[in-house]
Amino acid sequence: VADAVVGSLVDVVGPGHVLTDADVRVGYEQDWTGAFGGPARAVVRPGSTAEVAAVVDACRAASVPIIPQGGNTGLVGGGVPEGPGPPGRGEIVLSTRRLQTIDPVDAAAGQITVGAGVTLLALQERLAPLGFEVGVDLASRSGATLGGMAATNAGGTRVLRHGTMRGRVVGAEAVLGTGATVTHLRGLTKDTTGYDLAGLLVGSEGTLGVITALRLVIDPRPAQRAAALVATTGFDAALATAVGVHRRLPTLEAAEVVDGATVELVMATLDLPPPVAGHPTWYVLLGAAGPGDEAEDLARALDATAGPSAVGVIDAVVAGDGPRVDALWRYRDRATESLAAAGPPRKLDVSVPVSALAAFVAAVPDAVARCAPGAVLHVFGHVLDGNLHCNLLGVPSGGGHRVDDVVLDLAVGLGGSIGGEHGIGRAKRSFLHLVRSPAEIDAFRAVKSALDPAGILNPGVLLPA
Ligand code: FAD
Ligand code: MLT
Ligand code: ZN
Repeated sequence: VADAVVGSLVDVVGPGHVLTDADVRVGYEQDWTGAFGGPARAVVRPGSTAEVAAVVDACRAASVPIIPQGGNTGLVGGGVPEGPGPPGRGEIVLSTRRLQTIDPVDAAAGQITVGAGVTLLALQERLAPLGFEVGVDLASRSGATLGGMAATNAGGTRVLRHGTMRGRVVGAEAVLGTGATVTHLRGLTKDTTGYDLAGLLVGSEGTLGVITALRLVIDPRPAQRAAALVATTGFDAALATAVGVHRRLPTLEAAEVVDGATVELVMATLDLPPPVAGHPTWYVLLGAAGPGDEAEDLARALDATAGPSAVGVIDAVVAGDGPRVDALWRYRDRATESLAAAGPPRKLDVSVPVSALAAFVAAVPDAVARCAPGAVLHVFGHVLDGNLHCNLLGVPSGGGHRVDDVVLDLAVGLGGSIGGEHGIGRAKRSFLHLVRSPAEIDAFRAVKSALDPAGILNPGVLLPA
């Protein structure tokens, strides 16, 4: 092997797990959106924590940057090389996908220890027959890994009830940028023994350590799931419906909004029939999970909130059995892939206080039209988390565009954040100062240089240049 670093990686993991051929590397070099990526020196696939540590040591010794990568479903370019640029900039993509162990369920504690490369779907499938579930759910479940989900502090559609990944992670094992392996996987509920390293790794986007295993809280699987898709004439009515049902229904676990243009795009992409008659401008999808007759309870809460006298509600469909619930979810869950097929879209994930959502939604179309005339705006998201995803078709992806400043400024001006759940990655590092003070960013840098003194883990991600 001509390249000495690549040669030492081959010594660690064997030739079959160091990918150097361009056509094999490509799936690891380009991100899911198609907006980010570039050539890697090689892709290495360690099969154990000890191999991850040896890979980090080899790269540290040669000052070669490492890009940790799980399922490569991230939406802010944090898991792929920087590119486009001169080939051989030198990054090594460290894929965690071979870290596939799933320990037995600890039913008494309601916890499980898993390898970082296990996908969310694989864990869901392992837990379901045992009467448990993960709590967090994402449409990218078949690809997203638990390690990547912790590294991005992923949210998804059940945050309302179960919180984000931060609340799931009660222990972690990781190889830090120093090369040290830290392991704290006991998962004790009470453990006042110093800094919360696992907590620090959550949301660190691969900049402090490579997570190799996680201790996760899991939940009993509810007996019933139901969903309702409500069509409205405007965002205010969709929000009021979600708020009203949430107040009346303790088993509500999801409240998602999708604008009419996005539902139409999903229908066209997947060849689906309209879920209701007419042309609603906003839909709200409500999900309930619990031990009782969830469809009946959801319908009752919906009637009380959005009965015939409610303003702006056009129609509603309620489903209580698995296939019909799934059929309603398609109009929401398949938005990302439908936009990707029409795009690539420019994706701006923001959060604002729930009380400011209506102001954001009212202002964002004009804000976009002013600096990106001709752009088609699609908005959907997790309404009671205050987390909306603005997707723009017809604006070039990648690089800086004035529309990013305008939309992110709008969210921040309303007391919100530039990143609700997708992270900062490469896409938003130049905007971090909008929501984090110089003192906070200094503290971030101090943590980074303590845990990754050579700066080899994900340079160019999260922290401003
Ligand atoms: P990757 O994309 O591989 O990496 C993401 C980041 O984590 C990178 O910075 C990478 O360096 C770092 N990383 C990955 N693994 C490790 C590790 N083991 N140790 C340290 N750092 C690591 N996100 C949401 O929050 N909510 C959603 O509802 C949601 N829905 C989605 C739907 C679709 C269709 C798609 C394509 C994406 C969606 N996402 C969503 C985004 C994405 O799935 C999440 O960000 C997910 O957590 C990424 O996991 P991954 O394993 O693919 O990570
Ligand atoms: C979602 O909620 O579907 C995701 O966060 C993905 C996206 O924003 O496209
Ligand atoms: Zn989302």
